[in-house]
Amino acid sequence: MIKNIVLDCDPGHDDAIAILLAGQKDKINLLGISVAAGNQTIKKTAINALNVASYLNIDVPIAIGCEFPIVKERVICASIHGESGLDGFDFPKPKQSFDKRHGVQLIIDSIMNNDDVTMVCTGPLTNLALAMRLEPKIVSRIKEIVLMGGSIDNGNTSPAAEFNIMCDAEAAHIVFNSGVSIKMIGLNVTRKVLVSDKVISRMEKINNSASEMFTKLMKVFNENQRKTFGIEAGPLHDPATIACLFDDKVIKFQSMNVEIDINHGSSYGRTNCDVFDYLHKPHNCLVAMDIDVNRYWDVIEEGLRYYK
Ligand code: RIB
Ligand code: CA
Repeated sequence: MIKNIVLDCDPGHDDAIAILLAGQKDKINLLGISVAAGNQTIKKTAINALNVASYLNIDVPIAIGCEFPIVKERVICASIHGESGLDGFDFPKPKQSFDKRHGVQLIIDSIMNNDDVTMVCTGPLTNLALAMRLEPKIVSRIKEIVLMGGSIDNGNTSPAAEFNIMCDAEAAHIVFNSGVSIKMIGLNVTRKVLVSDKVISRMEKINNSASEMFTKLMKVFNENQRKTFGIEAGPLHDPATIACLFDDKVIKFQSMNVEIDINHGSSYGRTNCDVFDYLHKPHNCLVAMDIDVNRYWDVIEEGLRYYK
């Protein structure tokens, strides 16, 4: 039975590929997309989501979410994703328009009107946290949350924190303490799936509209990663959330307690992952500990080939 999912994302180059994977109707039932601010301002991430979905003929409701985090100041990540938030590909004018609802309302309606919904989050958790506060009934209805965020070791936005969590650690605190089953896919795993030139040329050979988008976006993504982090290729973080829904062997998880540091000090936004169960606290999370890199790129290739 294919899974019902809602995708909350902040496109973002890697979010765009997560949308692409989620659009495969034979593998997954994408109920809707709620857009988060994060990689760029909400206006830009929203149009990016609309452009990607429209270009790939993914006809689902797309609703604009929160413009700002719950407590802290907004940050964006133009150094990696560019001024538009999705630099590198000229999308045709989108055929569809935004859903009239707020992104938070789309999350609530999708979960209240469908059974066994998996929430997939590839950006800051503001929308999901506020949906839980606005309609607490959704908490017991969500089947599980699969999110890209955090890390069992160092961050990518500060020594302690990964971007999605650090953008709104208070929202993450609400989600991680909600009691909903969570799969957290962090940097310790996503830094193993670097979209190298070898991967790009493998996907370029598919030679369809999806592979053209992938190739052009990833070349800019890598260029920005080189400039920002001095690494040869960028980690393709977000599609891992969808890949693990298609094939439960792609990622290995370990159950543990994860606490979000919401003190406004140098470790704000850190995911304190109790890998060795030092504190014997209740396990609220399955944390990704390893990824089958070859299988991951096979899932990406299968996704690109799905689009004619
Ligand atoms: O830290 C990586 C995460 O932050 C990814 O989801 C990327 O798209 C950005 O949102
Ligand atoms: Ca993202």
